[in-house]
Amino acid sequence: MVRKGLIVGNWKMNINHLEAIQVVQKLSYRLDLGDYERVDVAVVPAFTALRSVQTVIEADRLPIGLGAQNCHWEESGAFTGEVSAGMLAKLSVNYVLAGHSERRALFGETDDMVNRKVKAILSHQMTPILCVGETLDQREAGETLAVVTGQLMGGLSGMDADAVTSTVIAYEPVWAIGTGQTATPEDAAEVVSAIRVALGERWGDAAEHVRILYGGSVNAGNIAALMAKRDIDGGLVGGASLDPDSFASIVRYWI
Ligand code: 13P
Repeated sequence: MVRKGLIVGNWKMNINHLEAIQVVQKLSYRLDLGDYERVDVAVVPAFTALRSVQTVIEADRLPIGLGAQNCHWEESGAFTGEVSAGMLAKLSVNYVLAGHSERRALFGETDDMVNRKVKAILSHQMTPILCVGETLDQREAGETLAVVTGQLMGGLSGMDADAVTSTVIAYEPVWAIGTGQTATPEDAAEVVSAIRVALGERWGDAAEHVRILYGGSVNAGNIAALMAKRDIDGGLVGGASLDPDSFASIVRYWI
């Protein structure tokens, strides 16, 4: 089973809409069609920059995917400060993150909320990127696989094989995010492979089609070793995606 690589830049709460236009244009100058044939590339700006980035992507016909960092599961209503999946779909958004560890830890997102978001994203024909990962305490207590599979099954609860195939999973160990401490390729691959096994036990062959990304201090120096692992299909990149030069080097990891 050949799964196409996917490199996603999560800008988090960085880069205003004016800066975003420049970052995407610079990124596009550094990538060529051969790169996009080899890997799918996506950027995930803050909500305020989505429209500007979408306009650049459309005007220049860039083969760059557009992602959003979050959404609400309801279609519309009295939810001050929230943005619905339908609103994002109207902006030609392709990917939406669900259950990033920062949202779980800082904004109280539970597996049930994440599951509703994943379903709302899919119902608008966008691709959810379901994020899972353990904290350092959980890793040291030997709970990594239990935590990760718990978040996985919680996030995908009630879904059939087709829906699971349309979902991207991102394994992001919390202790590796923004710390410069990347999981070794072996540690990352061990958990990512366990995720694929868990998917296979529940959804059969669909597991072989699901793209699973690694995230946590990914940079141009470590991406190639991560991508060399059979079960790791791509990267969810934070800090190193803010600079178009470093992000382009990650996208072109084989060079
Ligand atoms: P860093 O690459 O900055 O560690 O962030 C990872 C992340 O959280 C991407 O979603």
